[in-house]
Order: sequence, then structure tokens, then C-alpha cells
Amino acid sequence: MARHYRAAGWRVYACHRQASAELERIADDNLSLHALDVAEPEQMARLADSLSGLPLDVLFNNAGVYGPSVDGFGSLDAEGLLDTLRVNTVAPLLLAQALLPNLHAGALKTIATLTSRMGSIGDNGSGGHYPYRASKAGLNAALRSLSIDLRPHDIKVLILHPGWVRTDMGGAHGTLSVEQSAAQLFRHVASAQMRDSGRFIDIDGSKLPW
Ligand SMILES: NC(=O)c1ccc[n+]([C@@H]2O[C@H](COP(=O)([O-])OP(=O)(O)OC[C@H]3O[C@@H](n4cnc5c(N)ncnc54)[C@H](OP(=O)(O)O)[C@@H]3O)[C@@H](O)[C@H]2O)c1
Repeated sequence: MARHYRAAGWRVYACHRQASAELERIADDNLSLHALDVAEPEQMARLADSLSGLPLDVLFNNAGVYGPSVDGFGSLDAEGLLDTLRVNTVAPLLLAQALLPNLHAGALKTIATLTSRMGSIGDNGSGGHYPYRASKAGLNAALRSLSIDLRPHDIKVLILHPGWVRTDMGGAHGTLSVEQSAAQLFRHVASAQMRDSGRFIDIDGSKLPW
């Protein structure tokens, strides 16, 4: 996503726990790197301080975890569940709260968040995946509320499923490359209207069931 925004001429503030070699390679005067573990609220506060007064057009929430690899009923543990919720559900909401003044000052006023179809309750026909499914369903509920609360301020809240993507999380059998998914996500964000705010949208633009 950072590469796409940079290529389109945007000023990018890229957050990372540990910058990848590629992110470091593309960093320049218009793509700055900012340390942020989204599970650490004090780091969020520090980021918000360092960006204080800067208008932001789009907050793009990408960070996510699948959660513990052993996640079947009978093997669940509180820490695994809570760590997954902290990153997938709590962090995007707190980050939006921390950077709200920047979004108010921006022109496009957009919060775009990667959720997952696996968080759809209506689409869940196969069960399992408790931490991940619950964390993304919770995220969807929170973002829907946020879309309603921020509508009077003209801030759009986009709830986006990126498709099944060949990343570390998606694995080698995903149907989309990172490039394909990122290009489509970039187009969704660029063309989003207020009527798209608070909808749960698939990568092809269709509406997903909650
Ligand atoms: N791939 C898919 O098919 C798919 C499908 C549906 C939804 N999604 C969603 O798309 C988003 C991106 O997933 P992905 O496939 O790219 O997963 P990934 O390959 O596992 O990458 C996850 C990214 O999130 C970052 N991250 C995790 N915990 C973090 C934390 N506490 N603080 C800061 N960054 C953190 C990771 O940083 P590090 O490099 O430091 O670990 C990594 O850059 C996630 O929200 C995921 O749920 C993916």
C-alpha cells in the first residue's frame, strides 16, 4: 500500500514494528518511517504527538494478526484470544481516535481498515478460527459505529476485505497477489463516497453480509 500511494504522488507516513528491507528502500522525503507497535497505546500516543498539526487525508489500518496457530475449541487460551483482539479490534479504533484531529484537518477524511470476510457472521458456514473470526467481527461492529458517529464530520469509514492474498498470513494459495489486492484497495479508497462509509465491502466492490 505504501508503494502504491507513493507511486501516485502521495506523502506517506508508514508505520512499522520493524521496517522491512523493501520499506527502507522506498523511504524518501515523501515516505517517512514511524515506529509503531499497534498493541502499545503509548506508542500510538507518541505517534500522534509526532504528527500533531499535520493534516492526514487517509488513515489506512493494515496491521493484523491471525492469532494462535492452535485455535480450535478445547484448545483456546485467554492470552491468545486477547492478544488477537488487541491488534485486530482494539488498535484500529484507538488509532482512529488518536489521529482524529489530523483527519479532521485532511481533505479526503477517510479511515480505511482491512478487515476479513472471516469476520462475517452471516458468511460463517465452517466454524473454527475463534480468535481471528471474533476479532474481525468485533472490528466490523466497532467500525460500523464509528461510521455513524463520524458521518456528521464528513469522515468516511471504509471496512474492506482485501481478498485472499498471497502474504505470510494468506499463504501461497491465495487467489490474489499483493500487487493485485493493493491496486484494487487503492482504487476503492480513491473512489469512495460517503454512501460507502460503514459498508462491509469485498475486494470486487460487492457488499458482504455482516
Ligand atoms: N492475506 C489475506 O488473505 C487476508 C485476508 C483477509 C484479511 N487480511 C487482513 O489484511 C491485513 C494485512 O494482512 P497480511 O495478509 O499482509 O498479513 P501478514 O502477512 O501476516 O502481515 C501482517 C502485517 O501486520 C503487521 N503487524 C502485526 N501485528 C502488529 C503490531 N502489533 N504492530 C504493528 N504492526 C503489526 C505485521 O508487521 P511485522 O512485519 O512486524 O510482523 C505485518 O506487516 C490484516 O489486517 C489481515 O487480517 C488478509
